[in-house]
Amino acid sequence: MTTPDKLVKLEIVDLAFDGKSVAHLNGKVVFLKGGLPGETVEAEIVQSRRTFDKALVHRIIKKSEHRIEARCSHFNQCGGCTWQDLDYEQQLLFKHKQIVDCLERLGGFKDIEVAPLLRVEEPFWYRNKMEFSFHVDDDDTLRLGLHERGRFDRIFDLSKCYLQSELSNQVVTWVRNFALENDISAYNVKTHEGYLRFLVIRETARTDQLMVNLVTNQGDFPDVDKLVAEMTSAIPEITTIIHNRTGKVSNVAVGETEEILFGPGYIEEELSGRRFLIRANSFFQTNSLQAEKLYGVAFEMLDPKPDERVLDLFCGAGTIGILLADKVAEVLGVELVEDAIEAASRNAAINDIDNITFFCGHVRDFLKQTPPEQLGQPTVIVDPPRAGLHPKAIKRIITVRPEKLVYISCNPATFARDAKLLTEAGYTLPQVRPVDMFPHTMHIELVGRFYRS
Ligand SMILES: C[S@@+](CC[C@H](N)C(=O)[O-])C[C@H]1O[C@@H](n2cnc3c(N)ncnc32)[C@H](O)[C@@H]1O
Repeated sequence: MTTPDKLVKLEIVDLAFDGKSVAHLNGKVVFLKGGLPGETVEAEIVQSRRTFDKALVHRIIKKSEHRIEARCSHFNQCGGCTWQDLDYEQQLLFKHKQIVDCLERLGGFKDIEVAPLLRVEEPFWYRNKMEFSFHVDDDDTLRLGLHERGRFDRIFDLSKCYLQSELSNQVVTWVRNFALENDISAYNVKTHEGYLRFLVIRETARTDQLMVNLVTNQGDFPDVDKLVAEMTSAIPEITTIIHNRTGKVSNVAVGETEEILFGPGYIEEELSGRRFLIRANSFFQTNSLQAEKLYGVAFEMLDPKPDERVLDLFCGAGTIGILLADKVAEVLGVELVEDAIEAASRNAAINDIDNITFFCGHVRDFLKQTPPEQLGQPTVIVDPPRAGLHPKAIKRIITVRPEKLVYISCNPATFARDAKLLTEAGYTLPQVRPVDMFPHTMHIELVGRFYRS
């Protein structure tokens, strides 16, 4: 138990990137779990380092006027939403401030205009994909749910999440009950024994399709016909069920082999009037409605012309290139994951697009192998994962000398780092336009257009 003399009184002044709050004590920065800017709290210092301390909020002495009641009963425990207790306007302002901070601190930029975040219309029920983990507690109890905040090794049983849909909550409860009733074991991340690893649910916003993807350890699913018959009869909205198997120790919800247990093995979403096939293992923006806005911002900044050749780097299932194809002469998409490339080719076909081709491989290898003159100064769109662009990829993009370069980023820190290299090579970046895709979480998506000077 903490004695009162171990507690300190702190004024929260800011929010940090990882959702923690920030205060100062004796000239040091303190990162706190809990607390909002403007609040005075009583906190316990739980870790002390040379340059910073970590603390836990015990009691709020003075409440922020922007604090609201979190809707979710799991809020204090769950690692998913960090800011459900902060009103949405303030969430947007903090995200904006974090982008400005990153550009300044990591990119050295002082005069880039950062537009206000494009907000969502519905801040709940917005995700089209959720990944739930199976877990076995020390007392052998099977759990199915989400990670406890800050814990890779602890899962709590989810009863209701407000980020996907009521239907998704029903699937989670049904699958957990089925595993318990049929005595199917859960995988243990420490011993690597046990069978059920993840339940991934993907659901479309516009076409009412729902994919259940069960990721397990190696081996056949026990009594699989019973599983499919009972699941589809209990939840008839399910349109496809997939079984992915993986024996890898790394804890990622991707299988080495995939089997379709029910339905076509994919779902199809509609974005900006085009249809997109989504496979279990291929990337698709997780907020369908806001993805349309994100792409809209990118296209506005790109300002495509009918004679342009576009390189869509990190193209996933081809969404960007396919939505651009009728506005430009030709598109070439590059993507690492084979499943995604397969989906991209089918997406082009179902949308009757014949001026797009895809290359499966690393972006940097593609750029190394392809002589710049063969690419002929294309317009370039990059949409890399959180790690951003590899310095070699940046070097090769610069060699291609695109006049127009649009960068979609899900990480302002790596964006700022990469933008610095691009501006050092002669590009200018007058403006950044962020789009809020993930309310209540600290995730940020932004678009920047670089001009060759
Ligand atoms: C943020 S997603 C963007 C996908 C797509 N542009 C979209 O909007 O749906 C990043 C994509 O890059 C792919 N990827 C990751 N590393 C890569 C690499 N080195 N080379 C090519 N693609 C890569 C991932 O598989 C993923 O599909």
